[in-house]
Amino acid sequence: MNFEITEDQLMIQQTAKEFAETEIAPTAIERDKKAEFPGSIVKKLGELGFMGMMVSPQFDGAGLDTVSYVLAMIELSKVDASIGVIMSVNNSLVCYGLEKWGSDHIKEKYLKPLARGEKLGAFALSEPEAGSDATQQHTTAFRENGNWVINGMKNWITNGTSADYYLVMAQTDKEKAHHGITTFLVEKGTPGFDHGAKEDKLGIRSSDTCSLTFENCKVPDENIVWEVGKGFNFAMNTLNGGRIGIAAQACGIAEGALMAAKGYAKTRKAFGTEIAHHQAIQFKIADMAVKVEAAKLLTLQAAALKDNGKKYLKEAAMAKLYASKVSVECALEAIQIHGGYGYVREYLVERFLRDAKITEIYEGTSEIQRIVIARELLKD
Ligand code: CAA
Repeated sequence: MNFEITEDQLMIQQTAKEFAETEIAPTAIERDKKAEFPGSIVKKLGELGFMGMMVSPQFDGAGLDTVSYVLAMIELSKVDASIGVIMSVNNSLVCYGLEKWGSDHIKEKYLKPLARGEKLGAFALSEPEAGSDATQQHTTAFRENGNWVINGMKNWITNGTSADYYLVMAQTDKEKAHHGITTFLVEKGTPGFDHGAKEDKLGIRSSDTCSLTFENCKVPDENIVWEVGKGFNFAMNTLNGGRIGIAAQACGIAEGALMAAKGYAKTRKAFGTEIAHHQAIQFKIADMAVKVEAAKLLTLQAAALKDNGKKYLKEAAMAKLYASKVSVECALEAIQIHGGYGYVREYLVERFLRDAKITEIYEGTSEIQRIVIARELLKD
């Protein structure tokens, strides 16, 4: 077993760290307050190759491995988890599936600009009545005069107002239940397709989340991703990898909280000395560090399995389940160490808590991850 990160992976990690400190940190607090989408930062991430990190250079991606992607996601999310989710959705939920299952036409026309970071993608599976129970798709698509006509509504869509291309799951044959779901690539501006207002969220406020509506929205056959009836399979397999991205985002939040707590403990004085000298604080910092390390190891394990062509479904779910829990716990402890200062917006630790909570909800709640893990364990 080799725990060593390669020179190339270290370089990616360092690039992400420097980018986060110089380009992301200065505006993070303000963007969070104003719920402002970081358009220029996303553009620069694209120029760095971070919006299509694992896409092969043949399709204008950076051709990197999942371990490098995880390391970059951690560095960026340490500073701003909103950037983490924007990047994760484009990389894991959109580019990955298009490269694996998209037609030549889709790869040429849509994947390439997405991988270059010139266009942004969104993944539209959730609906008002289909969250965890994702097989219950009410959005429909039927064939008419050589087109597919989509009707319905999607909810909680990350990159919802900013995206250019949307992967939309719709029921094309109700009789076949989840085997009758199909994935369509819908371009922004297609008649009949619109998005709602940005949700006013607790955390990851700089990323935009909204609903989507489809009213007789026509898309051509060539915009079907994979095949008719493969949409649920597409969504599940894409989400398996997506969960590694969210686990990495959660690790970043947890590590950011730990760093902030350490920094504060070394400067804040109480009872005649820096609070870092008190065991009550030391124990908290030690426990946080152990949890962060364990979460990162689980996440990197899932990434390495994926890179090595091994099964990673259970490990990705374990990584997401644990890392998201740890991100909430570490953010809470960081606030506790900061005392009253941790509870106000000027100090960044309260944002870690608000950002952390969603990692236990999106891309499969913690309860869904437990189902996935248990089903895999009980198969044998
Ligand atoms: N990977 C691959 N295939 C899977 C799978 C997985 N993780 N989970 C289920 N499947 C397959 C099953 O093998 C089965 O296939 P067959 O019928 O061909 O045998 C099919 O899917 C149906 O599975 P189940 O019978 O197990 O269905 P279920 O209803 O009991 O459970 C579920 C399905 C696992 C709960 C699934 O609905 C699920 O994962 N729900 C969570 C949805 C989710 O993660 N949503 C996130 C929204 S996207 C988002 O958050 C993005 C963002 O913007 C940040």
